[in-house]
Amino acid sequence: MAGNFPVSRPRRLRSSAALRNLVAETRVDVSNLVAPLFVREGIDQPLPIASLPGVVQHTRDSVRAEVKELADLGIGAVILFGVPSTKDSIGSQAFDPEGIVQLCLADLAAEVGDRMVLIADLCVDEYTDHGHCGVLDGPADDPMTSVDNDATLEIYGRIAVAQATAGAHVVAPSGMMDGQVGAIRGSLDSAGFTSTSILAYSAKYASGLYGPFRDAVDVQIASGGNRKGYQQDFRNAREALVEIDADLAEGADMVMVKPALSYLDVIAAVRAHVNVPVAAYHVSGEYAMLKAAAANGWIDHDVVALEHLTAIKRAGADVILTYLARWFAEAQQ
Ligand code: PBG
Repeated sequence: MAGNFPVSRPRRLRSSAALRNLVAETRVDVSNLVAPLFVREGIDQPLPIASLPGVVQHTRDSVRAEVKELADLGIGAVILFGVPSTKDSIGSQAFDPEGIVQLCLADLAAEVGDRMVLIADLCVDEYTDHGHCGVLDGPADDPMTSVDNDATLEIYGRIAVAQATAGAHVVAPSGMMDGQVGAIRGSLDSAGFTSTSILAYSAKYASGLYGPFRDAVDVQIASGGNRKGYQQDFRNAREALVEIDADLAEGADMVMVKPALSYLDVIAAVRAHVNVPVAAYHVSGEYAMLKAAAANGWIDHDVVALEHLTAIKRAGADVILTYLARWFAEAQQ
């Protein structure tokens, strides 16, 4: 019978590593990766984050050293999150010129600003004493209290200008307020920052996968609250396109889907819908699940890490924000 099958034999192209590499459709590239980094005010050495093995809260000095190494490894960008020593009801450390992120951005702009993209997460949840992503319209402990959308936009505009002044190339609004991209674009343009780009966290879901991140930034939402009043409901995929269209109309340069692995359908739909770069955030809980299962010996870390990053790329993401950025770059060497 051999030779008598006029059928396609897909296995032929899998018969050697050389052939598999030749025909591979998708490759993760270090230049498309963004490393999320945490900088904490008032510490003199980096502090580990228990629920994010291998990730630390950096000092101003240690983040500088880390980012230089990431740039040397060819990683495309970093995104900074701040952990201030003092928090208040409006998150004023987020736009203070002496705020920890602004100080670090200035250091990094001088150190690697010519060869690496510097992104600043733009939100107030790390900076507010109630842990919400905007200013509140009532007392924090009242269950009817919600985030005041339009009052928050005014704060976001101030943060954008502070971050651009400090040296951010890209600002990334993550608060899911309606109109945030337009407000930020307006503030940046009025202050003369017409070249500062906006990476909009457009389709950001109210997810259980942000738990370790909240440890990393010392955020507890007041009175056991949650973000379901502003982040997207995970039962909805089409709604993501409504958010994307709104952000593009307001001037977003790049759009993001977050989290990534549980939302590959959304990444694919967004990719098919737009012609701007699509980013996806492989979030803290996705990273922590990988690390925990690998630490138990239940899965092979390196195989699954590469499989996950490749899946995010294959779904259509151009840019991937991931705590695995450094691991990937080193594994490639
Ligand atoms: C909000 C923000 C969050 C993350 C990125 N930006 C937390 C949230 O929305 O509660 C989560 C990232 C992660 O889990 O890795 N500033």
